[in-house]
Amino acid sequence: MGAAQRLAGKIAIVTGAAGGIGKEHAKRFADEGASVVALDIDEQGAESTAKELPAGGDQRHLGGRVDISSLASCQDAADRVVAEFGRIDALVNNAAIYANIDHKRADEEYLDQVLSVNMLGPWRMSKAVVPAMMSQNSGRIINQSSDAALMYHVSRKPETLPNFAYAWSKYSVNGLTKFMAGVLGGYNITVNCISPGMTMTEATQQAVSPRMAERLNASTPLGRAMEPQEIAAAALFLASDDAKGITGQILYVNGGAVMP
Ligand SMILES: NC(=O)c1ccc[n+]([C@@H]2O[C@H](COP(=O)([O-])OP(=O)(O)OC[C@H]3O[C@@H](n4cnc5c(N)ncnc54)[C@H](O)[C@@H]3O)[C@@H](O)[C@H]2O)c1
Repeated sequence: MGAAQRLAGKIAIVTGAAGGIGKEHAKRFADEGASVVALDIDEQGAESTAKELPAGGDQRHLGGRVDISSLASCQDAADRVVAEFGRIDALVNNAAIYANIDHKRADEEYLDQVLSVNMLGPWRMSKAVVPAMMSQNSGRIINQSSDAALMYHVSRKPETLPNFAYAWSKYSVNGLTKFMAGVLGGYNITVNCISPGMTMTEATQQAVSPRMAERLNASTPLGRAMEPQEIAAAALFLASDDAKGITGQILYVNGGAVMP
């Protein structure tokens, strides 16, 4: 007899699911029996992820657009899921500005944009799904921060305050996890966070030079970058019944790169 699927009958939303780690989350959740709503600002990418997902039994997958910098867009997406499926069991807040972040830009307008997506985006999506989870008296919210939250660069004499919005935004995601967990536990909603170390996605190939990647790997106990599947395995665990007693925690999936 095959192993029971760990998310059978569950309805899960994954943001940033057009590619990279988000697509792996969507695949793993679908493999484990969930109906997956793959969302991304890249609508076509999200739709093609949904089409590729395995579907057996009652499983149905949807792909669509969300812009997590807009509460109205998040609300609209959550409303569509409730209209279609009647409930929302899990939300994976994976979307972020990561691949093409411009570290040279440190003007207020740009920082506003990065922080709005990376820091407030997970809050907006959570705000949109929480009413459904509250009425069900159950739910799993899984945020995705980054080991970058715990790192910093030293600039002896910068000409201006540099752009550290990515790390700052992810540090905020760690904090958001704790505050949401505190107030949602009474509704049996758990809120946890995955902090990936460097993970080999197309975005990483764009964002991190081979030299930097080699240096980072060399300073890591396991001596290698993570694979997207390893991050997805952590999300599956946090969404599964096995994690029902875990909330407000940050799970570092990083080969030991940081050990807070
Ligand atoms: N790859 C890594 O090494 C690594 C390490 C630590 C954390 N992370 C985090 O993991 C997540 C996924 O990373 P990835 O490597 O797959 O990168 P990625 O760029 O492939 O994935 C991010 C996705 O978010 C989407 N997105 C961006 N802005 C959006 C918006 N306003 N609304 C909706 N969707 C939007 C993008 O279109 C993209 O599909 C990100 O949160 C990233 O910060 C990645």
